[in-house]
Amino acid sequence: MNIRALLPCLLLITLATSAARAETPLERGRYLVNSIVACGNCHTPQTPNGPEAGKELAGQFLIKTPGFTAYAPNISRDPETGIGKWTDEQIINAIRNGRRPDGTLIGPPMPFEFYRHMSDSDVKGIVAYLRTVPPVKNTATRSTYNFPLPPAYGPEVTTVPDVPKDDPVKYGEYLTGPLAHCWACHSPIVNGEPDYEHQFGAGGQVLEGPWGVAVTANITPHEDGIRDYSDEDIARAITTGVRPDGSKLSAPMGFYYYKNIRPDDLKAMVAYIRTVPPKPTPK
Ligand code: HEC
Ligand code: HEC
Repeated sequence: MNIRALLPCLLLITLATSAARAETPLERGRYLVNSIVACGNCHTPQTPNGPEAGKELAGQFLIKTPGFTAYAPNISRDPETGIGKWTDEQIINAIRNGRRPDGTLIGPPMPFEFYRHMSDSDVKGIVAYLRTVPPVKNTATRSTYNFPLPPAYGPEVTTVPDVPKDDPVKYGEYLTGPLAHCWACHSPIVNGEPDYEHQFGAGGQVLEGPWGVAVTANITPHEDGIRDYSDEDIARAITTGVRPDGSKLSAPMGFYYYKNIRPDDLKAMVAYIRTVPPKPTPK
């Protein structure tokens, strides 16, 4: 057989093997941080048009609430002002248990109630990616809390298994919860905390920041929420920040990151959102 006849075969073999090749931890982490997980939605300085170029994960003033004034620190790999000197285990412990290497607890609104359930593969991928983000020098101001932080966010998490992708509803629950913490913004605040128990996803949380005042939407399948949206409508609102009526969503809804969510993951997210108990928007 001559080489010309062989070429199409070789091409097919190459395509097939690259499609079958599993993502490396770094590829997984790059995808997650720049899409669903969106650490930068809090940790990267934001401009009116999205994340500030050249300042990825360099830290910023985040939010002032009646209970606290939070600054998201520099988590680029700068050794002095970022987390360049932290070991992989220390960074994982900070993400899942909310604990710094010196033993102190990290305060809200970093969503540890969700990040505690992040799988070992995903959290390791995120750390692999953080190691590649260019270092930026920036010392963030300390946050202040008008209440004592708890001693811990729960029993120490050391290992979490992967969530299989074969059941879209289950995987969608993992994507919108432990990875994306959608519910931390989309559940109303009662007694200083999101009311996950009675009003999961019912919206009505008031968020004040550089974007002005944004009120989170009801994303349950209630008439106040996304009941009348098609799957495509929900997916489009998440990834483009545009509602079915053409109106635009405001930050801090994370569409600058969510635009990179892959179609399969979006499908699973929508499948799970449809199963959440419908709740009216709090008045
Ligand atoms: C909702 C906003 C928010 C999100 C999302 C978020 N963080 Fe944070 N993070 C914070 C805030 C605020 C602090 C500081 C709290 C304090 O001062 O105690 C913090 C602290 C940290 C710290 C401790 C840094 C230090 O020097 O003390 C690390 C590490 C960290 N975050 C990593 C991450 C990673 C990685 C992600 C994505 C997986 C992430 N964060 C997502 C808000 C957020
Ligand atoms: C940092 C807070 C925050 C996070 C995290 C967040 N959202 Fe939002 N979301 C908002 C806000 C605020 C709005 C309303 C913006 C407006 O009214 O302009 C919104 C609006 C929406 C809408 C539009 C609903 C409508 O009224 O048409 C959908 C759908 C949505 N979010 C889904 C999600 C999903 C799914 C996730 C997780 C992947 C998520 N959001 C994560 C803050 C957030």
